Amino acid sequence: MKCVDDFRLRFGSREYVPIVIGGMGVDISTADLSLEAARLGGIGHISDAMVPTVSDRRYDSKYVRDKLKLYKYNVANTDKSEVQFDLGLLAEATETHVRRTMERKRGDGLIFVNCMEKLTMNGPKDTLRVRLRSALDAGIDGITLAAGLHLGSFALIEDHPRFRDAKLGIIVSSLRALQLFLRKSARTDRLPDYVVVEGPLAGGHLGFGLDWAKYDLHTIVAEIRAYLAAEQLDIPIIPAGGIFTGSDAVDFLEQGSAAVQVATRFTVAHECGLPENVQQEYFKASEEDIEVNNISPTGYPMRMLKNSPAIGSGIRPNCEAYGYLLDGNGNCAYITAYNRELLAHPDAKRLSVRDKTCLCTHMRNFDCWTCGHYTYRLKDTTRRGADGSYQILSAEHIFHDYQYSKDGKVALPPQEV
Ligand SMILES: Cc1cc2nc3c(=O)[nH]c(=O)nc-3n(C[C@H](O)[C@H](O)[C@H](O)COP(=O)(O)O)c2cc1C
Repeated sequence: MKCVDDFRLRFGSREYVPIVIGGMGVDISTADLSLEAARLGGIGHISDAMVPTVSDRRYDSKYVRDKLKLYKYNVANTDKSEVQFDLGLLAEATETHVRRTMERKRGDGLIFVNCMEKLTMNGPKDTLRVRLRSALDAGIDGITLAAGLHLGSFALIEDHPRFRDAKLGIIVSSLRALQLFLRKSARTDRLPDYVVVEGPLAGGHLGFGLDWAKYDLHTIVAEIRAYLAAEQLDIPIIPAGGIFTGSDAVDFLEQGSAAVQVATRFTVAHECGLPENVQQEYFKASEEDIEVNNISPTGYPMRMLKNSPAIGSGIRPNCEAYGYLLDGNGNCAYITAYNRELLAHPDAKRLSVRDKTCLCTHMRNFDCWTCGHYTYRLKDTTRRGADGSYQILSAEHIFHDYQYSKDGKVALPPQEV
């Protein structure tokens, strides 16, 4: 019986432990978590989601305060089209986050940044260009294009000096999405270095409808593998979503996948950005406590704990401070939903908006508890203290459990004293 450590992910002549910790915005996959993956010989992700906010928290900048000050006059206005990101400051924040992380990198692994196209930031093309180029400028090892089709993303960086040396990959949930991306990117004469195939059991936003349960990761991976073979395209495939044990990973590696991308198991690591009280909610959850809903203004379904404070919250849109989901015209589905409720209940002390949520604010405050399908199994990966709380794990323990475990087993951590 094999374990993950019997396999290696190859990029050119370099080899890595075939474990990728997926990107989790907003600062859930922290620099610390990604650095552990790299130290242990695998691949970690930071995320550039709401990076000015993350920089404020981590590096003492004041981007959010300053942006709010600049646009304070607009707070009560329903038209948010004037609330623009300063591209110079966005570049600075991205570079700080990436550079400060890369400076601390030890070991043989790699650090990538997860870059979601759906963060349209009231200027989709210009802001995405800045985010991608600044990450490359600051020395990131690779970029994973996420949450979107990214049909124009390679073109935004094709003249960057690192376009051919940095590792560039994309997350897809169907063969069709991959085909579209390859067709559109063909002009840049560069294939992606890897394709993450994300199935319906993943956390965060899903590339499926509310009928997600009809789909199966193994089937999608097999379809994509057959297509790449037929086209003689040698692109490493990295499945993601519901790979909970080392043995689950081995199943994919034995069938020809190059690595696996995992996330849920690491949401309960010390190095993860979620506050400990939220991590305890993840441990406590049962299968019935998790849902896939449509409250994200991005239009993609999202999986989360049903008791997330974000659900039903009717706070005033915070676009002057944040505004990451504003489309190119200053619209966001939450603003529409909020204004509808405001009109219907003009005298209410507290509004409730059920169909959409102010995702920027709630992700920023760790109040949208997005999670993978198997979150309800996390309680089986640790021990319980005398007070009933679950023991938080080290990223190293979880990584090594994926790397070495066999027989579908999960190793419990040493008992905390
Ligand atoms: C809490 C959480 C947040 C996530 N946020 C993102 C994100 O910001 N961008 C992204 O592309 N994927 C995101 N994901 C998906 C993961 O990167 C990963 O592909 C997937 O969850 C792997 O499946 P697993 O969680 O079952 O191991 C998130 C997953 C979790 C659990």
